[in-house]
Amino acid sequence: MNRSRLTRCLHALLALAVVHQLLVSLVMKAPEEGREAAGLGGGLFEFHETVGLASFAVVLAYWLWAWLRRSETSMASLLPWFSAAGMGALWRDLQMQWDVLRTRHAPEYEPGGPLASAIHGLGLLAISAMTVTGLLWWLTYEAVAVDGIGETVKEIHELFAPLAWAYLIGHALMALWHSWHGQRAIQAMFHCRRD
Ligand code: HEM
Ligand code: HEM
Repeated sequence: MNRSRLTRCLHALLALAVVHQLLVSLVMKAPEEGREAAGLGGGLFEFHETVGLASFAVVLAYWLWAWLRRSETSMASLLPWFSAAGMGALWRDLQMQWDVLRTRHAPEYEPGGPLASAIHGLGLLAISAMTVTGLLWWLTYEAVAVDGIGETVKEIHELFAPLAWAYLIGHALMALWHSWHGQRAIQAMFHCRRD
């Protein structure tokens, strides 16, 4: 299965945005209540807001495209949890991968395979949670949304942060592992040719 140019573009934007958000979160400093953002920490916090709001649009576009596209990974493969067929395929793939690993060989790289796709879907859900809670927090801060939900969504945002880190690191390591075994997963996902 070849991934379309739109999938590759959206994926590259998503990867860039998330790496940016996670790195910036290590040094940014949110202003105290009623104060303006100041200094390097404050400036980076404003970057976090702006890129975060843009990444909400990218995540939305990714889900929409995943739902519309026909010859690539389907929504049912990204979210197999709600159908018996999806769960069956996931379970068979899990057993197959485990059998190959026990022979001390690297499982064959299969773009859009049931296990990999289910994990990609979970990653996308974690990043969606980050962008939605970030957006809700921002709306509350700007006094557009219902008062009182600001603290709650900020806590949920912080709860999902370690999951976003875990997904990014695990996912990037898996991609490097495929490359290490001569499987061209990274080249296939990041090339800029027209196909
Ligand atoms: C946290 C940021 C990222 C998210 C949310 C993300 C999400 C995804 C998703 C949803 C897919 C499945 C594509 C599809 O079928 O629609 C995918 C595939 C892929 N991603 Fe990422 N990605 C991220 C960062 C990265 C980074 C930094 C790399 C580079 C090392 C990378 C390398 C790949 C590769 C090689 C594939 C294809 C894997 C396969 O065919 O099984 N991703 N990613
Ligand atoms: C891809 C999207 C995003 C990612 C990956 C992300 C990541 C993070 C991380 C890792 C933290 C630090 C959590 C902690 O200290 O435990 C954080 C904090 C925060 N983020 Fe985001 N974020 C995203 C989007 C947004 C958006 C859209 C907004 C609002 C416009 C936002 C506003 C905040 C705020 C207010 C904090 C708390 C800052 C503080 O009190 O120090 N984030 N984010």
